[in-house]
Amino acid sequence: MARKKIALIGSGMIGGTLAHLAAKKEMGDIVLFDIAEGMPQGKALDLSQCGPVEGFDAKITGSNDYADIAGADVVIVTAGVPRKPGMSRDDLLGINLKVMKAVGEGIKNNCPDAFVICITNPLDAMVWALREFSGLPHNKVVGMAGVLDSARFATFLAWEFDVSVKDVNAFVLGGHGDTMVPVTSYTTVNGIPVNDFAKIKGVDQGRIDEIVDRTRKGGGEIVGLLGNGSAYYAPATSAIAMAEAYLGDQKRILPCASYVEGKYGLDGLYVGVPTVIGAGGTEEVIEIELSDEEKSNLKVSTDAVEELLEACKGLDSSLA
Ligand code: LMR
Repeated sequence: MARKKIALIGSGMIGGTLAHLAAKKEMGDIVLFDIAEGMPQGKALDLSQCGPVEGFDAKITGSNDYADIAGADVVIVTAGVPRKPGMSRDDLLGINLKVMKAVGEGIKNNCPDAFVICITNPLDAMVWALREFSGLPHNKVVGMAGVLDSARFATFLAWEFDVSVKDVNAFVLGGHGDTMVPVTSYTTVNGIPVNDFAKIKGVDQGRIDEIVDRTRKGGGEIVGLLGNGSAYYAPATSAIAMAEAYLGDQKRILPCASYVEGKYGLDGLYVGVPTVIGAGGTEEVIEIELSDEEKSNLKVSTDAVEELLEACKGLDSSLA
């Protein structure tokens, strides 16, 4: 069987980390793409030289030419600029929308059969725009955010309860912004609903609310600490989990920014929802029962995404 081809559009900190993870897991041969000359080539060379030490066998190349992503099975898009301390993800909309246009055309012209995972912010709007610009089917274009947001929520809960992160199954819905919806009613500690577990551990509701708030602002917390750039290890590992689900036809249920039409009362929007990922791409959006409060929180979050889509249409008439 021919090796799989993984194209990484954007060779910054997330792109480099993605390449390292994909190589270590021998997911396939890797093309690092960037418009900055020398950068993807340099990273590809450096990463290739990890192979003999780490014992992986993957061909890693760097390129500034979209033709080199031809025939890719998976494309992971991190191109664009990250926010700086004090900025919101939404402040990146204008600049990153232009980047998504170039990337979408590059994908359309070179690997229209790929499964495309977008990480660029503001995520829910950028994945929508990337899908529009590339013209790929909706089930083959998805955004990475829910796996990351749920991982943050799980980490903070595990620290609070002093239990293994492996036993916390956290659940986050909605847009990848400060209005995202960590859903405690579907969050469990080894099957025990988190609110019951909190009582067992003597953790009060106020503390859980603080953890929910920290999760919502989790990306900004790291941007503030780094001072220059945003998180890259956890975003990269989250996207790799999604790529593996696709390549291995794993049918994993992962929270992702998927195209939702009809479910959750939504009509043609990319937003974070539990999604089955297998060989068909995003094969199914799972609709869960929500309380009235959860529904109204989700509405606030999806309204914020809708506003960004309107802004995209205002900036680029081909999207209107
Ligand atoms: C994150 O959540 O880490 C990313 O979306 C980057 C950011 O700007 O917060």
